[in-house]
Parts: sequence; C-alpha cells; structure tokens
Amino acid sequence: MGHGVVGSGVAEILLTHKQKLFASVGEEIYVKKVLDLREFPDSPIADRFTKNFEDIIHDLEIRVVVEVMGGLHPAYEFVSRCLKAGKSVVTSNKELVAAYGADLLELARQENVNFLFEASVGGGIPIIRPMNQCLVANIVNEVAGILNGTTNFILTKMIEDGMQFEDALRLAQDLGFAERNPAADIEGHDACRKICILASLAFGKHIYPQSVHTEGITKITLEDVKYAEKFGYVIKLIGRVKKLPNGKIDIVTAPMLVPFKSQLANIDNEFNGIMVRGDCTGDVVFYGRGAGKLPTASAVVADVVDCISHLKQRRFLYWADGDGSNIINVNDSVFAMYVRVKGKDAVSKAQALFGDIQHISMPGNSRAAFTTGEMTYGVFIEKINKLSADNVEVLSTIRIGDL
Ligand code: HSE
Repeated sequence: MGHGVVGSGVAEILLTHKQKLFASVGEEIYVKKVLDLREFPDSPIADRFTKNFEDIIHDLEIRVVVEVMGGLHPAYEFVSRCLKAGKSVVTSNKELVAAYGADLLELARQENVNFLFEASVGGGIPIIRPMNQCLVANIVNEVAGILNGTTNFILTKMIEDGMQFEDALRLAQDLGFAERNPAADIEGHDACRKICILASLAFGKHIYPQSVHTEGITKITLEDVKYAEKFGYVIKLIGRVKKLPNGKIDIVTAPMLVPFKSQLANIDNEFNGIMVRGDCTGDVVFYGRGAGKLPTASAVVADVVDCISHLKQRRFLYWADGDGSNIINVNDSVFAMYVRVKGKDAVSKAQALFGDIQHISMPGNSRAAFTTGEMTYGVFIEKINKLSADNVEVLSTIRIGDL
C-alpha cells in the first residue's frame, strides 16, 4: 500500500533480489497487488496496481501487507482491517506506530498475526529487532540518537560547507530524505516519533509524542555552530530517553551540543546513529543510512521475510498502552546548557547568576557565549529570565548532551 519513495524501493528489491530472498524464505515472495491512486504505466508490475483497498483485504492469497503510504489516515484504518482479516502487516510509518503502536500490537496479538516496523526507526539500520531480541538480557536505562536524516543532513551542510538552512533543506528534499511535509523533520516531530517508538520498546509502555518536549533545528544559526565548535562540541538533533532511579522516564527531542569524543558526534549527512546503554553491554551504537529509498525498503523487506517465516507463529514484539504518568515534566530534567548572549557586561552578569561558567567573548563587541554546569531546566529558565530582565539579550539556548 503506497508506491512512493519507499514503496517503489520495496517492489524493486523484491524483483532484483528475488533469488536471494527465495533462498532465505524457501518460496517466492510475489507482489500480488500494489495500492496507489497514481498510475505507474512504466513499472514492470504495472498490471498489478489497484486503486481499491477492498481488492487487497478480500484477496485470501495475500498474507502479508506492506503499508508505506505514510500519514495516519487512512493508514490506521487499512492496517487495522488487514490485521483483523488475519494478514500480517509491515510498516515504515513512524507516525502510525508512534500514535497507534500499542493499539495495533494488541490487535496483532489478538489475531495471532505479526505487526512489524523495523523501518520506522533508523531507515536501513537494524534497531527494533536488536533491541527486542539481541539486547533482551540487558536492563536498558538510556537510548539516545540522531534519528532524522534530513536535519542531520542540513546541520552537516551548515557545519562543513557553511550552507544556508533553506538550500540544505531543498537538497535533502531532492535526495528523497525529507517527509512530505518537511516541517515534521525540521520541527523535530519525526525524531520525536522515533524516540517514542524506541522508548516504548525499551520500557514496555507506549509513550505518545504529545507527552514529549520537542524542539526542532530552525533556530540554530551558523554562529551557534561556530561557538559550539570552539567549546568542543558539534550540534545535533537528538532524541533521548532515560530511565531515572525512581523509575520515571525523562524524554526529550531537541538540538544538543554533542562532545567531539561522543560516538554520535561523527554521524553526518543523512546517516543516523543510535546509542543504547545496556547494563551488561555498556554502550552499543548502531550506525547507518536513516533515510532514503533502498535503505528503508531493505528494512521493510527484512520484516516481510520475517513475517513469511513466521506465518503461523507471532514474533514477540509488544508493549502495553501508557498514559504518560511515568514521564517527568521537562522542567525537572537535568542538563548543562549553552547560551549565546548580547549586551553590556553579559558575561559578568551570567557569572553572577550561574556561578562557574565557561565563556567565549567576541573581541570588540558585546556578543558572547557561555556554558553552564548541570541544573534542572526549570531553574535554568528562571535564571535566563533574570538575565534578560538585566538587559542581556539571550539569542539562543541549547542543551548539552551527556552522550
Ligand atoms: N524524513 C525522515 C528523515 C525519513 O529524514 O529521517 C526517514 O524516516
């Protein structure tokens, strides 16, 4: 269902890798129908297109359905109906999994079919299956990652080539990384959905995106990029979730200053990187192409293979619904902060408020940037408000990631 960037990639891999897949599955994976409202007369499977979902749901030969339409509706209705009809479903749709994951997993459990979504996080990087199976002996206390290829591509172009934000975004769109509405990328919603999926998987209860404080990269300037470098950091959009000693969840999606020495600091362009902190393994880092046609399609096809290999047996992938009561308020989360300011005596005023700060001042003008020690975000905002009231213009504030 859906013959866009990812859907056409799935069809392509199923055709070009037919022999290889036959060897894994023991039977041919045949594309019976493709649902799309558009016409694709030049496709090698042009004769199998339909515009009518009923052609799929009523076809008893179709045992696995791939949903790569994107968006919530009608994706949710179509996927629910497929599961209820006893068909396994594979999706790359992170919006769908982040909004309805618990609901659809429960439906799959009741119908004893599979609902798999490896491609929904990290594109071609295996992360759902490794977290669910290979790391299962660990208690995972933290997951942090660069989860959006478009914004990582934009930030990399700003950092390395001094490219303007809009030009880099257009290039990412041309290369097929961006969402249909790129606001979902640059405002952080796509990364937020992905960290919600990983958090739900890691901690066993659904975490909904609306419970998560989310900031995008639209306010990041080349000046911030340069100051960050001088302090020894690179700016990345990070989705991060931590389980606190009291059992509560601290989750945020926001740009962060990542120390040069962090494994996440060198993940550039459209690549994604995800760090999972397990109590037995220590840090495990997953790296690869987080967006694009064939990387994402390869994860979809792997799930199709898994569904076919387990047609009569459900894969154990499940989390319960959640009400957000286990998530701490953003004001209670603890971070060191980077601040860029303008104004007379800005640094000495900041020192008076924040105590021991590191700072870089631009000679000959009243511009500076400083980094603070750790404090709760609520306390930080109180101090920043006092700084503003003392005639210091606060130009930007960014969290410093402990990564
Ligand atoms: N727009 C997404 C990204 C696509 O840039 O990462 C992959 O989910």
